[in-house]
Amino acid sequence: MTEPAPIDPTATASWSTLAGIADGFTPDLRAWFAEDPDRASRYTFQAADLTVDLSKNLLTEEILAPLLQLAEEVGVADRYRRMLAGDHINVTEDRAVLHTALRRPKGGADLEPAAGYTVDGQDIDADVHAVLDKVYAFADKVRSGEWTGVTGKRMATVVNIGIGGSDLGPVMIYEALKPSLQAGLEVRFVSNIDPSDIYEKTAGLDPETTLFIVASKTFGTLETLTNARLARQWLWENLVRSGGIADTDDARTGAVAKHFVAVSTALEKVAAFGIDPENAFGFWDWVGGRYSVDSAIGTSIAIAIGPDGFRELLAGFHALDEHMRTTPLASNVPVLMGMLNVWYTDFLDAQTHAVLPYAQYLNRFPAYLQQLTMESNGKSVRWDGSPVTTDTGEVFWGEPGTNGQHAFYQLIHQGTRLIPADFIAVANPARPLKDETGDGASVAPGSDVHSLFLANFFAQTKALAFGKTADEVRAEGTKESVVPARVFSGNRPTTSILAPALTPSVVGQLVALYEHIVFVEGTVWGIDSFDQWGVELGKQLAQQITPAVDGDADALAAQDSSTQALIAKYLELRD
Ligand code: F6P
Repeated sequence: MTEPAPIDPTATASWSTLAGIADGFTPDLRAWFAEDPDRASRYTFQAADLTVDLSKNLLTEEILAPLLQLAEEVGVADRYRRMLAGDHINVTEDRAVLHTALRRPKGGADLEPAAGYTVDGQDIDADVHAVLDKVYAFADKVRSGEWTGVTGKRMATVVNIGIGGSDLGPVMIYEALKPSLQAGLEVRFVSNIDPSDIYEKTAGLDPETTLFIVASKTFGTLETLTNARLARQWLWENLVRSGGIADTDDARTGAVAKHFVAVSTALEKVAAFGIDPENAFGFWDWVGGRYSVDSAIGTSIAIAIGPDGFRELLAGFHALDEHMRTTPLASNVPVLMGMLNVWYTDFLDAQTHAVLPYAQYLNRFPAYLQQLTMESNGKSVRWDGSPVTTDTGEVFWGEPGTNGQHAFYQLIHQGTRLIPADFIAVANPARPLKDETGDGASVAPGSDVHSLFLANFFAQTKALAFGKTADEVRAEGTKESVVPARVFSGNRPTTSILAPALTPSVVGQLVALYEHIVFVEGTVWGIDSFDQWGVELGKQLAQQITPAVDGDADALAAQDSSTQALIAKYLELRD
């Protein structure tokens, strides 16, 4: 079905209402909380295991009503349903967008669309579960030691080679779930074509116990294929040197069969690389790279946390999908968070959005979100080719708290920019530790360190919301000349997300939450959040420039003067 033309959000009645409110807007969270004792509960919502407190946002009923009306006017819920059904909402690539199908439980009775649906002639559920079963069987073999290398040893290290969505999702989830990993089985991740990356990641590894997963949707990505060849070279050289294999082509082919598997939508290219199709796990063009961690791209995760853990991860994703599908807009968390982002970006001139996990194991979550959000919504034309009518795609960034507190929070608290921030924490740490001695002052002996940690989570959002007035500063005896520097304006918006623990399910819920936030914003802006043409030009130019860097004079002469001079300098500096 042809995708309907995008609705211009700026032409809607709700947009005019919001623009009117934004004109001269003076938020006052102190007053809003004082006037409304129910504010916290009114704006706290539940999405599966995630408790989401939106009350410290620059939000009132007067603002919420037109935001929800805007979501209706642009048809967020309807477009989400069309996405689930397999409509080609990825217009510029003429593709369905079905990452939600990757986590549908087998044969669920109340699924929408109903089990057994087909898209473009493909039985989606059957194909998804066939691949998952294959991934699980493989993961079990590696975990149990049934899968052995060419010299008969079980695998001790898995090296995932991929980039972008074929790396960031797996590495983020691996880090997030570190406490649930199988002992004696490590996963490393190589992404950068900078040779230092593969050098460092293979350093100290035993080739006889190392398994490489080449993860690439297209199996045409320069970085990944170069690293895959370097890995193969490393394997061959080291196995031959140690006497693990003979120095023959047959022995090399045999080593690849036991030490390389692949994940891709392009299985013929996998075979051309020399990887047995039996050892390849497929997925489909309706899964975008940055939406693919729950496909076979997550094979490294399935090995690391086991099939049961992976099933739990997928169930977490699905729980959020169902929340998004079935919850009315007014309490639908991805819709509310997405619409708040629109409010900040398009009406209050926010340029960036911080994501601040108070969970060390989520240390790669901001990096993961950067691809998800910015590759998806960094667009300036709409899906019908017309220019966007408003700002799109805020810059997402962040670091785990409390490290960020001692680095960039100063600017969030007292700078001139509005930076909405999401604070994420879990109640139960994977590593509960007590400070047995305390510090003899504010930290009592036996203090629970996680509680100390989360006191910061609570304190920061409170400080950002309510600030500190000049009178409060003066009351502390501060000399008058320093008072302005110590005033905190407050009214700096935050969302607090609290989960019981960092389980596979909760990680899946968090990822799906942000996937749907991206969807909501993209729908308002009328953009195709599922293509990524913006990364193509640089890739093409790199190919054109490679001969110049290799010393081809004609190729060098064809470059602009700045590029020529830089390449010349590079060649001069090379030993
Ligand atoms: O950066 C562009 C991109 O196409 C991403 O969308 C994708 O995740 C990444 O490259 C890797 O692509 P592939 O999985 O095809 O190697």
